[in-house]
Amino acid sequence: MDPNASGLLRRLTEAGQSHLIRFWDKLSPEQRDSLNQELQGIDFQEINVFFKRAMESSVSSSKNEKMDARMEPVAQDVLGSVTRDRGSVKRWEEKGLECISQGKVAVLLLAGGQGTRLGVSYPKGMYDVGLPSHKTLFQIQAERILKLQRLSEEKHKKKSNVPWYIMTSGRTMESTKDFFSRLNYFGLDKSSVIFFQQGMLPAMDYDSKIILESTCKVSMAPDGNGGLYRALGNQGILDDMQRRGVEYIHVYCVDNILVKVADPAFLGFCLEKDADCGAKVVEKNNPTEAVGVVCKADGHYQVVEYSEITLATAEKRSADGRLMFNAANMCNHFFSFAFLKDIVEKYEPKLQHHVAQKKIPFVDDQGQLVSPDKPNGIKMEKFVFDIFQFAKTFVVYEVLREDEFSPLKNADRQDGKDTPTTARHALMSLHHRWVLNAGGHFIDENGTRVPAIPRDGAADPVTDDGIRNLKDGTDLPIKCEISPLVSYGGEGLEALVKGRDFHPTLIIDESGVHELVKNGV
Ligand code: UTP
Repeated sequence: MDPNASGLLRRLTEAGQSHLIRFWDKLSPEQRDSLNQELQGIDFQEINVFFKRAMESSVSSSKNEKMDARMEPVAQDVLGSVTRDRGSVKRWEEKGLECISQGKVAVLLLAGGQGTRLGVSYPKGMYDVGLPSHKTLFQIQAERILKLQRLSEEKHKKKSNVPWYIMTSGRTMESTKDFFSRLNYFGLDKSSVIFFQQGMLPAMDYDSKIILESTCKVSMAPDGNGGLYRALGNQGILDDMQRRGVEYIHVYCVDNILVKVADPAFLGFCLEKDADCGAKVVEKNNPTEAVGVVCKADGHYQVVEYSEITLATAEKRSADGRLMFNAANMCNHFFSFAFLKDIVEKYEPKLQHHVAQKKIPFVDDQGQLVSPDKPNGIKMEKFVFDIFQFAKTFVVYEVLREDEFSPLKNADRQDGKDTPTTARHALMSLHHRWVLNAGGHFIDENGTRVPAIPRDGAADPVTDDGIRNLKDGTDLPIKCEISPLVSYGGEGLEALVKGRDFHPTLIIDESGVHELVKNGV
C-alpha cells in the first residue's frame, strides 16, 4: 500500500494534514492498513471547515459581552408545572397514554458519550449504582418502557409498542448491543430496540492539525449529543420512524437514574400545547449552581450556560421570590416527528460545533505517547438543545428534582456530586416516599416507626447544587427499591403496602414484597 498511489497523500497535503502519515515508514503492513482505512473514512476538507467555524464562533462569543442583556425568562403561557398545575397533570397523563396506545410515541436514548468523568471502560448505561437489585441504568429504563406499555394496554385494551432508539458511538456500539442481546433485551421486543451510531470527529490542536493518539491511530471522539440530528438522517432512523408511524419522540440522557421514559404527563402537556419542541426542566434554586437554563435570548428559546451570564443576573428574582432564570436544563426533550425531520433536512448543517478545550494525549515526533497536563487542543461537539431556536411552538415543563432528576456523572468520592451514591440514594428515597404516599410505613430494628421525610422537603438542608440532604445528618435513605415493572411513577402500590409496617431493606418486585433483613437475607 502506497499513500501516494492511492491518492491519500494528495488529499492529506491539500488539507494540510500530511503529518498524519509521518510514521508511515515505521508501521507494519497491518498498522498501515488500519491507518489507511481510518483516514479514507475522514472528509478532511469538511473537518477543516468545522474547525474554522467552531473556532471563529468560540472567539467571537468569548469577546462578546455576557448574555444578560439579551435574556428573558420563560413566558408563563408556554410553561407547565407538576406542582403549580397539579389539577391538569391527570389529564395530561391520560392524553399521553392514549397517544402511546396509538403507537405514535418513540423514545430516543442519547448514549454515545464517553463517560470520562465516571471513568469506567464500558458504556454508562451498563453501570450498576449498587441498588439492592443491582439493576443497571439500561435495565431500569427498559423496565419503565415495558411498564408503560402494560399501563397503556390495560387502559386502552390494545397492544402497545414504544420503539426505543438508542444512539451509541463508535466506541460504545458493540458493547451496548452485546449487552442487550445477552440480557434478552430485558423482555422488550427485540425488533423495537433500534441501535444507531452517531458520528465521530478527530481532536485537533490549536493550529488546526488533527491529533494522532498513536503512530497509526487518529484521536477520535463522538461529535456531541447534538450529533443526533446528523445521525438521524444518515443512519436511516427518520425513515424507520416514519415507517413505524412515530409522531412524537421523547429524547433523554442515559445517566439520569430517575428518568421517566416517555413520561405520559410530559407528552400530554406538549400535545395539549400543540408544541413541536419541549424541554423538561427542574427548578434552579441556587444562583451559583453550574447548570444551563432554558430562557429566551434574542427572541428565541435556547439554553444559556451558567458561564455565559453574570452572577447579578443569576441572582435576579421574580416577584414570587424564585430565581428569574430558574429553568434548569436536564437534557430531557419532546420533539414532534415533523420538527425533527425539518431539523435534519434544513437546519442541522447550519449548526456550528462548540469548542471544548481538552488535554488530549498525543504522539510526539519520536512516536512516544505524551499526556499533557494542560489543554493542548479541542474536541468539537454539537448539543442536542442547539435546535430549540428553530421551534415554532416551544414549551417548558417543570418537574420536581427529587422525583425526576439525579444524573450519574462522577465516580464516588466523599461528598461527591452526581455519583453512584447520590443516584442510588435518590432512587431509594423516591421509592421510600412512594411507599409512604401509598400508606405504608417503615420501622427500625426496635419496631419503632421511622419518621416520614416531609413530602415538600422544606425542613431538609439543600446543598449549593440543589441536592437535598436527609435530615438525620447521615444522608442515608431508607433502603427501599420498587421494580419499574410494579410501578412506573408511584401508582398501584396501595394494595401492596397500605397499613403495613416494613423493615428495610424493602424490595417490591413482580414476585411480591420482600423484607431482606427481617428474613435474614
Ligand atoms: P455528558 O455531556 O454528561 O457526557 O453527556 P458523558 O459522555 O456522559 O460524560 P463525560 O462528560 O465524558 O464525563 C450527556 C448525555 O449525552 C450523551 C451521553 O451519553 C449522556 O447521555 N452524549 C454525550 C452522547 O450521546 N454523545 C456525545 O457525543 C456526548
